[in-house]
Amino acid sequence: MISKASAPGKVILFGEHFVVYGIKAILCAIDKRVTVTAEKIPENKIIIKSNIGELEVSLNKSMNEISSPLKPFVYLANKMIKKYNQSEGIKIYVKSEIPSGVGLGSSSACCVAGAAAISKLFEKTSKEKILELAIEAERTIFQNTSGADCTVCTFGGLMEYDKEKGFSQIKSEPNFHLVIANSNIEHSTEVVVSNVKQFKEKNEEKFSIMCQKELELVNRVKIMLKNNDLQGLGKCMKDNQKFLEIIGISNEKLRKMIEKAENSSFGAKITGAGGGGCIIALSDESNLEKIISELKMNDYECFSVKIDFKGLDTF
Ligand code: PMV
Repeated sequence: MISKASAPGKVILFGEHFVVYGIKAILCAIDKRVTVTAEKIPENKIIIKSNIGELEVSLNKSMNEISSPLKPFVYLANKMIKKYNQSEGIKIYVKSEIPSGVGLGSSSACCVAGAAAISKLFEKTSKEKILELAIEAERTIFQNTSGADCTVCTFGGLMEYDKEKGFSQIKSEPNFHLVIANSNIEHSTEVVVSNVKQFKEKNEEKFSIMCQKELELVNRVKIMLKNNDLQGLGKCMKDNQKFLEIIGISNEKLRKMIEKAENSSFGAKITGAGGGGCIIALSDESNLEKIISELKMNDYECFSVKIDFKGLDTF
């Protein structure tokens, strides 16, 4: 038996970093996917083949001995094999359209699609249960994950995330394109978050004023998303980027990419932790090609996406 599932990547539209201090963030699933195929095999092994690496482990190998980014798949396969007392192994194929390590949710999409494809070999499960499993698997490589990325990869669309209140779906279907440009500088979210903490500790008053302004901005954004107000959203992206500059998560390359993208988009900003990773620029049909060609002319790797409203898909 073979089972297959796919899940989208994500971007943070607004609120990264400030979300750590209780402000709401807005996330959005993107139409670039990870597809995972799983099958039971007679060998006593878990075999993973992917375009981001390969791994082969015996069924009794301890999780602590595995340091590969593919570890979540081993966790998921082992968990199901143990639960159902199976003696054979599982082979897993992963195909990703999402660049990894640059804040586009590739590891969460792997965990969600992996949890769905692997569990489907054994049982019928709800999206909620798959999400729980995916977050558990993601914790094997990223202990402190909030689960926000896995949640948006599971349900798709737009989501607001509040540290205390959790997640809620934003019921809007705005029609825009995002151009994502990749700085190709890998970032460690943990390091950047800790640098921001230091900035906050040295600038408590300034930081608290920015948090207040970011909260107002996110509340305005929710109305603009409902009204498909791209001019307004673009202006908010520029304002949000100003705060991200102040807290020190930008750099020369990201600034240049944003400057180029802003020439023809509604607005552009860093998405995710910063220090590297990606920027996003807001566009519609009228300016999409222009932004892409301007970025490509300057040798920046970029591609366009739309919101993915489907989320996890099993077939
Ligand atoms: O780089 P990403 O997409 O993993 O985003 C990190 C988001 C932060 O707000 C910087 C950290 C967090 O845990 O919310």
